[in-house]
Amino acid sequence: MSSINYSEKIPNNVNLGEDRTLQRALEQWQPNFINWWDDIGPAGSTDHEVYLRTAVSVDPQGWAQFGHVKMRDYRWGVFLNPGDADRQIHFGDHKGEKVWQDVPGEYRANLRRIIVTQGDTEPASVEQQRHLGLTAPSMYDLRNLYQINVEEGRHLWAMVYLLHKHFGRDGREEADALLVRRSGDENNPRILGAFNEATPDWLSFFMFTYFTDRDGKFQLAALAESAFDPLARTTKFMLTEEAHHMFVGESGISRVIQRTAQVMNELKTDDVSKLRAAGVIDLPTVQRYINFHYSVTIDLFGADESSNAATFYNTGLKGRYEETKREDDHSLKGQTYKVLEARNGELVEKEVPMLNAMNEVLRDDYIKDSVAGVERWNKVLTKAGIATQLRVPHKAFHRNIGALSGVKVSPEGRVVSDAEWTANEAKWLPNREDRAYVASLMGRVVEPGKFANWIAPPAIGINRQAADFEYVRFN
Ligand SMILES: [Fe+2]
Ligand SMILES: [Fe+2]
Repeated sequence: MSSINYSEKIPNNVNLGEDRTLQRALEQWQPNFINWWDDIGPAGSTDHEVYLRTAVSVDPQGWAQFGHVKMRDYRWGVFLNPGDADRQIHFGDHKGEKVWQDVPGEYRANLRRIIVTQGDTEPASVEQQRHLGLTAPSMYDLRNLYQINVEEGRHLWAMVYLLHKHFGRDGREEADALLVRRSGDENNPRILGAFNEATPDWLSFFMFTYFTDRDGKFQLAALAESAFDPLARTTKFMLTEEAHHMFVGESGISRVIQRTAQVMNELKTDDVSKLRAAGVIDLPTVQRYINFHYSVTIDLFGADESSNAATFYNTGLKGRYEETKREDDHSLKGQTYKVLEARNGELVEKEVPMLNAMNEVLRDDYIKDSVAGVERWNKVLTKAGIATQLRVPHKAFHRNIGALSGVKVSPEGRVVSDAEWTANEAKWLPNREDRAYVASLMGRVVEPGKFANWIAPPAIGINRQAADFEYVRFN
């Protein structure tokens, strides 16, 4: 079950060949996917041969195989983690029952919505990142971008497989629509806000892969608990790919900071204009980018109080992060959770039924995980003898979803007037000069072993390759 069949047109470990109707439907979707990739995938990359990893097995050891391939020839396919015949539902109203191999009729609409919303983010990020290859700071980074792009493409395949196999005609229609919406398109945008924002430069890209791919990790982890077993198994495998995306973000920002700290020490200055004259990204700008990407990303978890979120949990569709490791009754009835609201110009905590706060529970787990990586960035600064520390802003800062969207809050968590917000916005969020300055650094550096001035080389190559390894062959 776990070995992948590459002799078929669509690589898979789900015995696709035994279901001719499904196989044919997916084979009809496949050329549309390739057309989408050619149309809106990585710009100017058609003939590049890229050192990519491809899944050969879903076993924890050795699932990846490395080699130079053209991206449009990447073996996108359908891979599920092995099933456990005895797996039981371990939360919600159906706790203790056997997991479902098919979609129960009464949950069909909600499950479809969950799968479509997740699926929509995958092609969206490829679209958002399509121009970045033209300004890569190194061949190593270019390869990592492309690896992420093909894996997001595969994540789309994962969701499309579920739609085709389990949702009949509406599933096929939804799968088609996933190739029609476009990130940032006024008339037909992607479903979620953060996936319609531009990713204009590599600082944004690293922030996106650190913060927004981490949202992916938490959403996928919650779906990996699902009572709908095929969804649980496919999201489990997606999580192993997601880990690399977050690594690219965390190490990318870490290398930016390392280089900035080095120049700060050489010039013995933290003066922004001097550091910009020296061609590195000053820490206040890094902080503003953090403020932006963090706040936009925590909105993705949805409203702090949500009856839909309660339904998803009660009915077993979506669990909590690491649901199985938690020691409570996994039904949560009668329990409460604290959410924030603004009252008389102050943020105050309010106790609400925990089931209605499931979005907030997941958001808070996400916040803990994000903060840990920011602390690792701070260690880079401390080690270099720099006193400045980076931090994520308060969770009420710059929110557009939920109870906090109606109130202006400083990065420290103080409710401010509209006037104070306007006066400080350029200090708190990336301003026009920041964006223009970062854009001015985005030249293309792609000779093997060379790096743009604003970023340090990585500690180690991909698959332990040498520093001057030719990750991308330009044809
Ligand atoms: Fe993804
Ligand atoms: Fe990702």
